[in-house]
Amino acid sequence: MKKLLYQFDTDALPSVFDNVVGYDGGADHISAYGTVDARNVAGLVEGAIFTRGAKDKKNTAIFIGGGNMAEGEAVLSAVRKKFFGKFRVSVMFDSNGCNTTAAAAVAWLAHGRSLAGKRAVVLGGSGPVGQRAAVLLAREGADVTITGRKREVVQAACDAIHARFGIVVRAVEAPTNVERGAAVEGAHVVLATGAAGITLLEERQWRDSASLELVADANASPPAGIEGVGQSDRGEPKHGKILFGSLGFGALKLALHRACIARLFEQNDALLDAEEIYAIAKTMVG
Ligand SMILES: NC(=O)c1ccc[n+]([C@@H]2O[C@H](COP(=O)([O-])OP(=O)(O)OC[C@H]3O[C@@H](n4cnc5c(N)ncnc54)[C@H](OP(=O)(O)O)[C@@H]3O)[C@@H](O)[C@H]2O)c1
Repeated sequence: MKKLLYQFDTDALPSVFDNVVGYDGGADHISAYGTVDARNVAGLVEGAIFTRGAKDKKNTAIFIGGGNMAEGEAVLSAVRKKFFGKFRVSVMFDSNGCNTTAAAAVAWLAHGRSLAGKRAVVLGGSGPVGQRAAVLLAREGADVTITGRKREVVQAACDAIHARFGIVVRAVEAPTNVERGAAVEGAHVVLATGAAGITLLEERQWRDSASLELVADANASPPAGIEGVGQSDRGEPKHGKILFGSLGFGALKLALHRACIARLFEQNDALLDAEEIYAIAKTMVG
């Protein structure tokens, strides 16, 4: 029986990245749908849950992606509402790689050390990756702040985090590098999750910090999100801090994404969201 993955993307053009990793994770065939939303997904789900017998349903799975995490979460909720009894299939939620990227970054940051009681700042943290990274850092015991250019946007991200996870994350408006430099003063951990190719912090702003221990950058498109962090850094020491770059933890992100796809086909009722994906990341890191 073929392993069928239904890729539901909230963007008009379904992600090629998610499609390739879906195959590399073990799907035999992927049907990718764009412009999926909470209203039009019901019929697609019915096709997935009503077609195969109970013991064969594990060979059908759903992946939810796309650039807008709130829309993706609404699709996830609509998908789950269609499930009942044994009529369900496994689902992975990873809008813009939010869960797999954040899980890989935080798993490396927490690897072999405790983040409990540390002050962590997620720069450009209002996006999908930043929001999920903030949650996972908080779950590791860190006191987390996220920054964004506009107070209302970054506060809305904190509110979304609280609504979904019950976690309180502080919002700081920091539209320029100067304000972002001030935001990381006294912090122990800084992670940049801003849009691709945007530098959020200069090297001189973190180089001499007495408090910073861990400096990580998710941005894989030059220039670096944090100047002075090498793309391939994975625990590199520099200026007395430990550095992680986008490719440095990106290898775990890719392996994790593939492993999660494989996990979908082991049972018909897996739900892989932030907590589950992070738990898998913790078993793979290092
Ligand atoms: N290493 C990996 O394996 C991997 C995998 C996936 C993604 N990524 C990278 O992870 C990062 C985060 O991804 P994402 O999807 O969460 O990002 P995103 O939504 O595109 O952007 C994150 C935040 O960046 C801020 N931003 C946008 N334009 C900006 C500008 N001109 N100046 C300053 N801030 C700006 C926005 O916050 P405000 O509007 O609130 O300021 C936005 O919410 C990206 O760089 C992405 O390429 C890495």
